[in-house]
Amino acid sequence: MQWFKNRKTMPKLILRFALVGWACAFGLGHFDATDALAQTPEQERLAVHLATLFRAGRAVISENQKLINDETKGDKGLTAEKVVGLAKENYKKATNKELRTDRGTLEGKLTQAMLESMKEVMDKAQGLINKPGVGFKGFLPATFGHRVAETFKKKVEDTASIKLTAPKSYVRNRANAPDTWEDQIIESKLKANDWTKNKAYAEMGEHKGKPAYRLLIPEYYGASCLDCHGEPKGEKDITGGKKEGGKLDEVGGAISVVIYTK
Ligand code: HEC
Repeated sequence: MQWFKNRKTMPKLILRFALVGWACAFGLGHFDATDALAQTPEQERLAVHLATLFRAGRAVISENQKLINDETKGDKGLTAEKVVGLAKENYKKATNKELRTDRGTLEGKLTQAMLESMKEVMDKAQGLINKPGVGFKGFLPATFGHRVAETFKKKVEDTASIKLTAPKSYVRNRANAPDTWEDQIIESKLKANDWTKNKAYAEMGEHKGKPAYRLLIPEYYGASCLDCHGEPKGEKDITGGKKEGGKLDEVGGAISVVIYTK
């Protein structure tokens, strides 16, 4: 396709994610794309949809972190079905729309794959989550996000992928490390002094040698994040990992979505 060859000259699409309800860490991202929608491809709609659903699921883990870490309880009742149900509710809160899960459409197929990934990750985690007498279990929103993303990728590899990544200097789990494009956009755009907070970046580019629509949504360190990702750099946090030395409101991560266009 022409645009692929000419992608350097393609107008870049820049989206704005307005966030509501961030009182709670890892709350729901609310997307406001009125400016961008008029000239946007179908891929953008799908990518935004996937990011919103991914965040809706991760928010469930954040909202239930205290329960997950409760050493006095065995069975937490945080089953896969429950998490998927709450993720759907969060999605509806963020978008005012019901999820479309009909497999006849690409959106339905990707939605199903994402919900199934959440279910599988939660099913596998039941033993850990329900272990009595253990407080902190290392089951965090980022852990859930990473596992869901990996599972999802395997299911729809040829169509789409999603990833929770971070600025290179702040990566904890190497599997989340940014690729060349993600690193470049995080450093040159999302972290730029004049970049509007919560504005996402998107362009027609490539991924693994294939033409793709790519979307990168910044995420920021809030106060609660700094217990683990803050200062002093190198000090051990509750997970046993080393703190990154991050500061309040700094770009601490990004959600990267790929929708292949061929
Ligand atoms: C209890 C400690 C803890 C808290 C609180 C915490 N994180 Fe993390 N974070 C981690 C750990 C541990 C990982 C690595 C997870 C894994 O192995 O995939 C991680 C991973 C991440 C990643 C993925 C990239 C990477 O480095 O692997 C991002 C982005 C991230 N955290 C952002 C945040 C943000 C934003 C907040 C606050 C809303 C937050 N974290 C709160 C411990 C924490």
